[in-house]
Amino acid sequence: MNRYRLMLIGLLIPTLLMIPYSVISFYTDFANKNPDPLSVTVEFRGKSYDAVEGKKAFEQYQCMGCHTIVGNGAYFAPDLTRAYKRFGENDAALAGFMLSGTPAKGMPPMSGRGMGDEDAYRVVAFLKYTDRLDTNGWPGEGSWDRDGSPDSAGAKKLIGADIWQIILGILLFNLMVFAVILNYERGKEDAGRRKHE
Ligand code: HEC
Repeated sequence: MNRYRLMLIGLLIPTLLMIPYSVISFYTDFANKNPDPLSVTVEFRGKSYDAVEGKKAFEQYQCMGCHTIVGNGAYFAPDLTRAYKRFGENDAALAGFMLSGTPAKGMPPMSGRGMGDEDAYRVVAFLKYTDRLDTNGWPGEGSWDRDGSPDSAGAKKLIGADIWQIILGILLFNLMVFAVILNYERGKEDAGRRKHE
């Protein structure tokens, strides 16, 4: 086999390996799995409120002045990304909590800031949406306490599938390196043979 054909094979192998990797990358955690905010709604007294109007209400009452969503905002109060889940996905309980607050602990009663039932349910729709955001596992199991402080939960443990991904990755990488070395050695041999001729 001549040197150029080997070089071509050495380039072809990594190229062919990249194709399945590229395809797989679209079908894993990288793909956007977030719902359409207009389709996330809550019902209250026969009316439906969606997450888009919910976000406007969330901004209007300046929740971000104290809270965070996916870690962005102010660090005075708990992160609200998964608040909907913490309230047992109970719309009425969450709306009620917002309206009456816990003044002793720093959460102002929103009814005192002009929030009515309708706006409360709008915000609930928004928090229902943030609860469905694909945050790629954030926050980790128990990594953020209800008060927003990181606890001592250990790092995520490796599972079987992860280990196989790593082993396969190492094997494929070695194959690529092997192809390059083989190509280089063959090239040297060819050059040597040519010199003797
Ligand atoms: C002045 C600061 C402040 C503002 C503004 C504020 N909050 Fe809070 N909020 C707090 C504090 C402090 C707590 C924690 C209270 C506790 O531990 O009982 C809290 C708690 C909460 C909780 C319960 C969190 C949990 O997971 O247990 C929710 C839900 C919540 N707030 C929603 C909102 C929403 C929605 C808004 C905007 C409409 C808002 N808050 C505006 C300070 C604030």
